[in-house]
Amino acid sequence: MRYPPLPADLFTSNRQRLKAMLPPRSLVILHANDVMPANADGTLGFVQNSDLYHLSGVDQEETILMLCPDAPDPKQREMIFVRETNEQVALWEGEKLTQEQAAERSGIQRVSWLQDFETAFRQLMCYADQVFLNSNEHPRATSPVETRETRFTRRVRREYPLHDLRRLAPLMHRLRSEKHPAEIAALREAARITGDGFRRVCRFVKPGAHEFEVEAELAHEFLRQRARGFAYTPIIAAGANACVLHYITNHQECKDGDLLLLDVAANFANYNADLTRTIPVNGRFTPRQRQVYDAVLRVFRAACSMLRPGVILREYQDEVGRLMTTELLGLGLLDRDAVEKQDPDKPLFKKYFPHGTSHHLGVDVHDVGATWEPLRAGMVLTVEPGIYIREEGLGIRLENDILIGETENTDLMADIPIEAEEIESLMAARAR
Ligand code: GLY
Ligand code: MN
Ligand code: MN
Repeated sequence: MRYPPLPADLFTSNRQRLKAMLPPRSLVILHANDVMPANADGTLGFVQNSDLYHLSGVDQEETILMLCPDAPDPKQREMIFVRETNEQVALWEGEKLTQEQAAERSGIQRVSWLQDFETAFRQLMCYADQVFLNSNEHPRATSPVETRETRFTRRVRREYPLHDLRRLAPLMHRLRSEKHPAEIAALREAARITGDGFRRVCRFVKPGAHEFEVEAELAHEFLRQRARGFAYTPIIAAGANACVLHYITNHQECKDGDLLLLDVAANFANYNADLTRTIPVNGRFTPRQRQVYDAVLRVFRAACSMLRPGVILREYQDEVGRLMTTELLGLGLLDRDAVEKQDPDKPLFKKYFPHGTSHHLGVDVHDVGATWEPLRAGMVLTVEPGIYIREEGLGIRLENDILIGETENTDLMADIPIEAEEIESLMAARAR
């Protein structure tokens, strides 16, 4: 096995916390994601529904989870339905979960094959007053494709128009934003593997290397250390490519004198790290690169210390914008008079720092969270300021993953070199 599954205690505790938020006579139903078609008979790799995973630990297609905490029959209070395997499935697709394995992984005693779902669902619908159904309510989700959950919601609306249908998403957002110790351990491991990948890249990069070769080095390091793979499509951007925020073609040569922006991280056990470093291709920053680098680093350090319990992300973002404005004035990129007269709805710093500073991190890279609520201990967020100067072909971003604590924060990437001198000495040790 690539890695031991996370402990069933985690998923049991997540379900317990969800149940505590539910009114009496509630029924909660979650579905796996679809296996998405590609062309001809191809499919894209299966990606589990993050909420279903978070409540069950089951990473298999077609799974259905049903919770009815006060169901009259105690055996129906927690049920999971998995695809029945057989000789054909075993021959073509290999191992699928047995009922015993699904029980062990999820901590749910009652595991049934998928064909038993209909009967149990109809029985519980006779008891339930409100049905919590799931939907992807990430604020930046823009999917033209109807999910399994949306199809199911339409069906329930049609067949049971008198039931009170409720949104599960806000409850899941609250639940998922505070991390359990087992989740933090998985995030730490993802960060550790990511750090090893970064160090390997620092030993590898030199003028003439290609961005895709850097990607190959990272893939090798991540996979040999039992990561599931990249946490997201890696951004490996040399020179002016770093000014394209979502550059993922990774096809160009790294040139002498350029910087290389690496927004790359590993996924371990369904948990994502998220790292960005910007390094000089030839191992030494130029004075201008260093000047901009240190400005980003100062904003990064200040932002890390500002993410504390009680902080509202929108206010934090405004404050980071003010810090960034000061740095951009210092770099000669903004004009003081113009800043004094700027439209507060269109602050000038956005020309050089057009994205947000922080997002929640977990089973999803841009993890869900009730972003309008004050931050709480146990949340994990990225901190990722950047300065992108298109006219100079220069882009620098730095990003670490921060666990918010009661008394102090923990930087899960504290041991991954970030100071310019540290990067230079790491690169000086590489073979030429
Ligand atoms: N790697 C995606 C992000 O930094 O948000
Ligand atoms: Mn990132
Ligand atoms: Mn990020």
